[in-house]
Amino acid sequence: MQQGAIGVFDSGVGGLTVVRALRALLPHETILYLGDTARVPYGTRSGDTVRRYSLEALRFLEVASRELDLRKRQASQPPEQSPPLPLKMVIIACNTATAYALSALRERCSIPVIGVIRSAVWKAMQLSKSRRVGIIGTAGTVRSGAYQSSIRSADPSAVVLAKACPLLVPLVEEGWLDHPVTDLTLATYLAEYKESSIDTLILGCTHYPLLRGAVDRYFGQSVALVDPSESVSQEATLLLQKRGWLASEGQEGELICFVTDTPHRFQQVAHRFLGGAPQRVEQVDLSQYVRGIGAQEANDHRI
Ligand code: DGL
Repeated sequence: MQQGAIGVFDSGVGGLTVVRALRALLPHETILYLGDTARVPYGTRSGDTVRRYSLEALRFLEVASRELDLRKRQASQPPEQSPPLPLKMVIIACNTATAYALSALRERCSIPVIGVIRSAVWKAMQLSKSRRVGIIGTAGTVRSGAYQSSIRSADPSAVVLAKACPLLVPLVEEGWLDHPVTDLTLATYLAEYKESSIDTLILGCTHYPLLRGAVDRYFGQSVALVDPSESVSQEATLLLQKRGWLASEGQEGELICFVTDTPHRFQQVAHRFLGGAPQRVEQVDLSQYVRGIGAQEANDHRI
């Protein structure tokens, strides 16, 4: 058993799909979530910028977990004397940030850092019989080639198709999950996948798991769908189990959300991704936490 929080970050609200899946598997964990709502989207930005933002998010989560722990200890009577507890794991919920920043964050951090790509690819390789796999994601995720190379290293003979679908994020945030405009947009993006007879599709963006029903409708359920929020939550659970780091069952799980813009919009749409309204949302100014992380450091980790 290991006390301490799991840190999760994303460019905005979409990463709450990962928090939802995590809470279903790990209801006793404390989760600190950072949504970089002031700088969303990451999907249109350069790799260097996404990497710098992600290093800042990691720094924030490290500091926030220590401050939170301190607050809890000060509140207990008598105050506890033991040394501060570290963040025990970081999950990069954002596909674009995983694609560009996973190795940079791992180099910088002594605790496990996991992203959404590896476990989703592993799941896709389990599901695909024809070895014809499609990926949909942001322009940045597709451009990085991270999903494509991960599939090819799992199976060099696999046929991999990748397509950026930038219109889907705003449609999901608008709540148009069962809407003719969304169906038409999906049909336009996915037509070439139907022609190419893929048998597995990775929903490689935080928002796309909400379109599962619409994608199933389009393919008539002939294509297996991989939801990275589920596979990364399974990977996180296995890792914590293996290390004996699961929170005790007596502990009540808690979710504290931090956002970099005012919480208003986040609170308005969060329930769609989380399956309920988040109890606690605080606005933070990342510039207070990130001294010492400059563009140079982000550039040193160019992939
Ligand atoms: N969270 C991003 C991802 O999964 C989608 C939204 C954005 O572009 O920031 O890639």
